[in-house]
Amino acid sequence: MDSSLQGGVIALITILAASIASLLAFSNQLRKDQESESTIPGCRRIGLIGRSNMSDQYSPKHNGENLDSSAACKIKALFIYPVKSCKPVELEDSDVILTGLRYDRQFCFTQLKTEQVEKEEGDLSVNSEWVHNWKFITQRNVPRLSQVDTQIWIPDPSSPTYSPKAEWVKSQGCVVCSFAFTPEWSWNMNGLRTAFSIFKAKLAQRDIEAEPRITFKLPIAPDEERSSKYTREVMKIWKDSPTAINITSEIPPETLGKLKYFLGVSNPIALFKADPLNHRKVFRNAPRIEEAGYQPGVGFADAYPLSIMGVASVQKVSKTITNLPTPHLDALRFRANIYLTNAPPFAEDDWKQIRSRNLSYHVSCRTTRCDLPNVDPVTGIKDRAEPYKTLKQTRGFVDKGAGAHPVLGMQMVPLLEDAAGKGEIRVGEEMEVVKTGEHFYIRLFQD
Ligand SMILES: *[C@@H]1O[C@H](CO)[C@@H](O)[C@H](O)[C@H]1NC(C)=O
Ligand SMILES: *[C@@H]1O[C@H](CO)[C@@H](O)[C@H](O)[C@H]1NC(C)=O
Ligand SMILES: *[C@@H]1O[C@H](CO)[C@@H](O)[C@H](O)[C@H]1NC(C)=O
Repeated sequence: MDSSLQGGVIALITILAASIASLLAFSNQLRKDQESESTIPGCRRIGLIGRSNMSDQYSPKHNGENLDSSAACKIKALFIYPVKSCKPVELEDSDVILTGLRYDRQFCFTQLKTEQVEKEEGDLSVNSEWVHNWKFITQRNVPRLSQVDTQIWIPDPSSPTYSPKAEWVKSQGCVVCSFAFTPEWSWNMNGLRTAFSIFKAKLAQRDIEAEPRITFKLPIAPDEERSSKYTREVMKIWKDSPTAINITSEIPPETLGKLKYFLGVSNPIALFKADPLNHRKVFRNAPRIEEAGYQPGVGFADAYPLSIMGVASVQKVSKTITNLPTPHLDALRFRANIYLTNAPPFAEDDWKQIRSRNLSYHVSCRTTRCDLPNVDPVTGIKDRAEPYKTLKQTRGFVDKGAGAHPVLGMQMVPLLEDAAGKGEIRVGEEMEVVKTGEHFYIRLFQD
């Protein structure tokens, strides 16, 4: 090769290498900026970040077959869902309170629904009126909720930025919600700024698919000053009409507009926080006040404070499905709080009381399943059939009370000392089966 050409090639390679190095440096800087921007002053993030305790959930060692008789059932993973139907936060340990795991299902999105109801007994067409209700939404009707990310940040006095007066310290921390949003852009100054922000998001996350994220924060226990901005309103969740705290004003209007677009909801939406002084009381299969010492309650959980599920049961169901769009059935589709290993498939079906290191639990009833688990938690895409179709065939008529409705996993009530009591639970602890027996599911709706 001629030496000037050689020189040229070397220069070109040097320039290329230098460009890549500076792009990487820029990318690192962006990532650092993003991290510090997303840190909440005076607080620390709780939960497991990185490898999930469920990462080996498909392993044959968790199929629950051929278990050693001495093998104790174990707590594999813990999850909370701070905003109903949004992404979970995985924990290594948790407080257990009246409403279940602390921070679980304390927020809920609603949409304004107009419905025709009969005024009195009688004909809907003669004697009816139109009512407007704020009705809860879930992944079942809005699958995109599954793609809204949540983080929990709580006050941390050891943080260098800690001050009792810091905004989110005053609210006992916050739930940071975020969703991906790529704005439209065009060839003008504003448009180019937007395009640059899209490029920055891809570079910071070193992922060509990455999109800029939009964030909003929700107070965990707002102080008086903050609370004075909210109103209490009646909302609808299943058959209940609790009064809850309308905290929609925590989401800037522009963000709310983008969120509606992201979710694909055209009705007005509002965000509610459960009223800590006014739990929805739980009856049906739950223990009564005479037994538990207080009447169990929930925030925005569907029906009972805690849900539990054996990994082996999900593996067993997975084997019977032929048309699942994913290679395995992800147990996270069922949105349990507590996942267990070392129990035979469906062993939990007959549990009546169980106990971990710190606390006993009343296993109230089986969990009836709708088609919500058809939503793939990774993509947010809802399959038209599975796993619901197979569950109906294999897990219907398991519970006499539930009839044809398929059941999987159990609902529980923690047996605390009193309504203000507190327990603890941790991944890796044993779960001892104290009592087994019959279950009969008491339905919410008669059909
Ligand atoms: C909730 O508050 C927002 C803003 O503060 C308000 O626009 C909306 O009408 C309220 N929603 C309900 C259900 O009262
Ligand atoms: C469970 O933990 C709570 C505190 O979190 C404690 O007060 C209680 O004594 C513990 N109970 C048992 C049985 O260890
Ligand atoms: C759960 O995950 C955490 C974090 O990766 C890890 O430290 C811990 O050992 C895991 N626990 C069990 C019981 O697998």
